[in-house]
Amino acid sequence: MRNRSDELPRSEEGVKRLLILGDLPGDGVRRLQGSCEVEVHDGEGLGEAELIRLIPGFHGLLTLLIHPVTERVLAAADRLQIVANCAVGVDNIDLAAAERHRVIVTNTPDVLTADTADLTWGLILAVLRGIVSGDKYLRRGSFHGWRPKLLMGRSLAAVTLGVVGPGRIGRAVLARAPAFGVRSLYHGPSRLPEQTERELETEWCGLEDLLMASDVVSLHVPLNTDTRHLMDRRTLLSMKKGSFLINTARGPLVDESALADALASGHLAGAGLDVYEAEPEVHPRLLELDNVVLVPHIGSATIETRTRMADCCFEDLYTVLLEETIPERALVKPAPEGEKP
Ligand code: DGY
Repeated sequence: MRNRSDELPRSEEGVKRLLILGDLPGDGVRRLQGSCEVEVHDGEGLGEAELIRLIPGFHGLLTLLIHPVTERVLAAADRLQIVANCAVGVDNIDLAAAERHRVIVTNTPDVLTADTADLTWGLILAVLRGIVSGDKYLRRGSFHGWRPKLLMGRSLAAVTLGVVGPGRIGRAVLARAPAFGVRSLYHGPSRLPEQTERELETEWCGLEDLLMASDVVSLHVPLNTDTRHLMDRRTLLSMKKGSFLINTARGPLVDESALADALASGHLAGAGLDVYEAEPEVHPRLLELDNVVLVPHIGSATIETRTRMADCCFEDLYTVLLEETIPERALVKPAPEGEKP
């Protein structure tokens, strides 16, 4: 396997060339190497300009959520048939441009739903029960025995959870609430079917009402122009005093500077974050606050799920490049040649 595309010869007629951006678990690269010319790049720090330089001549591209697949990248991609994004979120890809350039786009829905919902609950437990602050307290030698008022958190059975975005992951988060004795509300553009609401033991409400009524607000909406800074100064201040914000979706849903202010003033009691506005940077004031639990975008990071995500991508690359069909789960399925996109 070669590591730099500029050392590679252009494809022999009929041999598909595949660019993999990232070191992925599983044996997908090995399996495809038999039938394609595969190049693996560690994918680190690849911005638009580097992708524009690398992409010509490749028929398939496997991206991570850190890779910007923009109009300009797609315009430079003279042979590209498919982008397989190793994430469920596709905010790094210009889907309309992919459609225009007749490039199929796939992502990895479903396989990461349960693990991301579990991490969401991990953050809820961590912030409501002081797990991380308790660990730090003990390690710095402050634990001198059981005390009635030591690190008092909130009882799960006493709080209301508000889920914003009842998609796959939002629903999985709601589904776990009854097991913890947590009452839940949700907000989405439309109501879930009544039967689903009954199964999840939840009820729909408007966003403002949800923010005012919830002790824990958890975000599960995709990032787009409508949802960027969904939680800005105004909406953060609409949250109930003493409540908690959890974000395992996308960082730019939250104005981090406004969040730091709401936490520092005591309006919010805490936050649990897996994602950041300018990843991998974290707002410096959040780093200083004790009532915030910060983890490095690990919602789907289990051996099982990350392997399944990689496998989904390799399957889609195989389906498009070697079987010459469009995968069922493709998000962008370009119109056949000759039809207007
Ligand atoms: C995704 O898939 O979009 C997550 O953020 C990473 O698993």
